[in-house]
Amino acid sequence: MQGDLTLFIKTLPGLEKILSRELKKLGGRNVVEVKRGAEATGDLGFVYKANLWLRTALRILVQLKRFQVRDEDHLYKVINKIPWEEYFDVNKTIAVDATVFSDRFKNSLYIAQLTKDAIVDRFRDQTGKRPSVQLREPEIRIDIHIQKHFCTVSLDSSGDSLHKRKYRNEVDTAPLSEVLAAGILSLMEFDGSENLIDPMCGSGTFLIEGALKAANIPPNVFRNYYAFKNWNNYDQELYDLIFTKSLEKEENTELKFFGFDIDPLVVAKAKRNSKQALMDEVIKIQKADFTNWNKGDHIPDKGVLIMNPPYDIKMEANIPELYREIGNTLKRHFSGYTAWIFTGSEEGVKSIGLKASKKYLLKNGSLDAWLLRYDLYDGTKKEHKIESH
Ligand SMILES: C[S@@+](CC[C@H](N)C(=O)[O-])C[C@H]1O[C@@H](n2cnc3c(N)ncnc32)[C@H](O)[C@@H]1O
Repeated sequence: MQGDLTLFIKTLPGLEKILSRELKKLGGRNVVEVKRGAEATGDLGFVYKANLWLRTALRILVQLKRFQVRDEDHLYKVINKIPWEEYFDVNKTIAVDATVFSDRFKNSLYIAQLTKDAIVDRFRDQTGKRPSVQLREPEIRIDIHIQKHFCTVSLDSSGDSLHKRKYRNEVDTAPLSEVLAAGILSLMEFDGSENLIDPMCGSGTFLIEGALKAANIPPNVFRNYYAFKNWNNYDQELYDLIFTKSLEKEENTELKFFGFDIDPLVVAKAKRNSKQALMDEVIKIQKADFTNWNKGDHIPDKGVLIMNPPYDIKMEANIPELYREIGNTLKRHFSGYTAWIFTGSEEGVKSIGLKASKKYLLKNGSLDAWLLRYDLYDGTKKEHKIESH
């Protein structure tokens, strides 16, 4: 595994364009946007850099082999022939992920099992020992993707989803994925220069992701675990150099992130999370009820507002009433602001009483969710035509 590597970078649906843009900016070559991800070319150093820096990537896979697969027996034989012992040591723990979109093969669980057997049998034949399987934070993760009759075998360089940034130990009701929050900030074209307000901040994900971006700090700066560190070719000197150089890119930022939540326990947790991310000097979090807003004095005159109000039946909120009140507070107290709402409630959206000027369809977990933009003029300007993406 040297020189140019063929990479597949996974992301969430709706963030493909943002991811491709990030890849190009970071120096990825031959970047091609695909469903739920992007393809790119880069060397080992790029793989380290991409794991550290990509805000909207979930996993970075390094392709080892791509072939036309006939049946399960053929799959076993080809995978058994790959020189796995060149890539990692038999003492490392392994896990296999499989995704199958083909009626030629049984379910993906079976394919994962078959792949694991082919790898383990190869090690046993070559070394007399076998690697053991570990599902949580394995040292080595292997990825099999079968689409019709094409099979791609890759090493997952991340090892675990990159949304696990390690600054958020404390989560509360329906925390948002860090990757989704970072993607939403990019769709909002938030570049770190504006004030950012989240009046229903929960665990503080938008504020922390926004502050890391504004300070040009890699989103995964707090994360130690990457599967690539367990590969035979791991170049610690190179990784340390990339890590140190990344920290030198930090820029000064100031107090311009303001979070609120109705629940005092949630406020305390969000504060602890922002401290953990070393961002507590630029993020201020207070208790406030957005539907009964009198914090006008405590926020800047202009800025961008992002909120992810409750929208799920589990949260037991009266959705239409809550969203009507959200709309009223926005109209009364936030003229001059651009407001973005991320929600999965169509009923809620209808109750806001404002016309969106932009709309993106995304997913929150398995549910459809929308990111909507509202331009809150001071009452005189005409509304925009809606742009849908
Ligand atoms: C879906 S969660 C937000 C999750 C958040 N984006 C995160 O990253 O963790 C909604 C939050 O809104 C808060 N909330 C509900 N009603 C509120 C109100 N009237 N004013 C302020 N916060 C409220 C809840 O306490 C909850 O933390």
